[in-house]
Amino acid sequence: MTEFDVLVIGSGPGGYVCAIRAAQLGMKVACAEKRATLGGTCLNIGCIPSKALLQSSENFHAAQHQFADHGIGVGELKLDLARMMARKGEVVGANTKGVEFLFKKNKITWLKGEARLLGSGRVVVGDTEYTAKNIIIASGSESTPLRGVEVDEKRIVTSTGGLELSEVPKHLVVIGGGVIGLEIGSVWRRLGAEVTVIEFLDRIVPSLDAEVAKAFERVLVKQGMKFKLGSKVTKAAVSNDGVTLTVEPAKGGAAEQLQADVVLLAIGRRAYSAGLGLAEAGVALDDRGRIAVDKHFATNIPGIWAIGDVIAGPMLAHKAEDEGVAVAEIIAGQAGHVNYEAIPSVIYTWPEVASVGRSEEELKADGIAYSVGKFPFTANGRARAMGDTDGFVKILADKTTDRLLGAHILGPDAGGLIAELATAIEFGASAEDVARICHAHPTLSEAVKEAALAADGRAIHI
Ligand code: FAD
Ligand code: NAI
Repeated sequence: MTEFDVLVIGSGPGGYVCAIRAAQLGMKVACAEKRATLGGTCLNIGCIPSKALLQSSENFHAAQHQFADHGIGVGELKLDLARMMARKGEVVGANTKGVEFLFKKNKITWLKGEARLLGSGRVVVGDTEYTAKNIIIASGSESTPLRGVEVDEKRIVTSTGGLELSEVPKHLVVIGGGVIGLEIGSVWRRLGAEVTVIEFLDRIVPSLDAEVAKAFERVLVKQGMKFKLGSKVTKAAVSNDGVTLTVEPAKGGAAEQLQADVVLLAIGRRAYSAGLGLAEAGVALDDRGRIAVDKHFATNIPGIWAIGDVIAGPMLAHKAEDEGVAVAEIIAGQAGHVNYEAIPSVIYTWPEVASVGRSEEELKADGIAYSVGKFPFTANGRARAMGDTDGFVKILADKTTDRLLGAHILGPDAGGLIAELATAIEFGASAEDVARICHAHPTLSEAVKEAALAADGRAIHI
């Protein structure tokens, strides 16, 4: 079979979800994937393995530092890192096999190998040429390199090597205080590594609301993570003893040297389109090397579309998935759509950090008058019972209309709690709407209700 209605390139969350939705809509679908297993970055080397290790290391840390407070003695704790890694592999395997099952169920043909465009409607994978009425590029992203810091995935690693270390480093230096650096840094910190984060800017996670980022930094410092903000690495020299880093103030000044056993390079990810034959096919890129698309995911070449990390927007699995669904529906003549105002993002540290909508800084920059409602987890009964009182819920609402504009949570299960606020933003709810909803007691979600009440100056429990 070499003729398809839809041929998707890449089986990450963008590509595989798009393939399934297109098949549901009655189209004959193929998906090309060059990796040995389906699921892309997310399932193989990203979201899923990182969350497996975050969970395992969180359990280890809790047993070591929190169980005693609950009156549980565990004796001498032993780390079996090989088992922890094997479990991570099992979790990944179950997920990638799951996508393979879904492909079979939906009669999607997996074209194994690297796909290259031959022009509108034509793709080659291996030695075989395929034709498709619609081609969807979902080739994802890759780690951004840094001059002077040569990745070998052993001593100097990207997230891929950082999730595969065979022993706990004594000193892990992370370059980049963003999402990957703080999640993977947390894993190794909890397992006993000294962790130093070198960040170019004078704050961590630039995409976060600044107040939340500051509080997050304080919590991580309390957990023993060290930060060198406003600093840049200009050189990394590998020797038998480890890596010597040359670090300079970002604004210029005297350099210093820092010794590390392992260095994690995590300064961002960039669109991945090598080997696709984009230039030959005439597919236009934007100024940052991403595939340029219009509001309906169409490239400049008729019949070629693009979604996920390879186009503009937040590099998140659920954003890629929603774009995959939307483009399949658009191709089928339906009104596929993604609301970029209501895409939640979560950092899976402990406590977690979750956001949806706009930050205070963005509202100020846009000249929008807003009210703020905040509620700390120290005043939430369930958080006290759990022993997890770090953090707060922050709600931003339009000063005049009370419409919810943004929500930011630092705290236990922030990633679960943010769903309610994403729903509220999607439905155009006001802070008062959220405050009027009955929230079960005792739950962490009561902190969300209280923050919504606080936006009108009438929180009850503080
Ligand atoms: P990808 O998942 O990158 O998939 C692209 C696929 O295309 C790859 O499998 C690649 O092999 C294949 N491909 C590329 N070119 C070709 C070709 N020419 N022929 C055939 N196949 C090709 N996001 C979250 O939302 N939550 C998280 O918790 C999270 N954690 C992350 C942790 C880490 C360590 C990393 C690195 C990323 C994480 N992300 C997370 C981001 C998330 O993984 C990406 O946003 C998501 O995978 C993007 O999906 P995609 O379908 O666009 O591309
Ligand atoms: P990031 O964009 O989150 O953070 C990169 C950080 O590195 C920024 O703080 C930036 O200021 C800093 N930086 C840039 N250049 C630097 C330099 N030369 N020296 C020091 N610091 C420098 O990127 P990251 O952490 O690599 O993650 C990539 C993407 O993967 C994220 O944008 C995110 O979308 C996705 N991801 C999502 C996760 C989640 O949803 N939980 C988890 C992991 C990744």
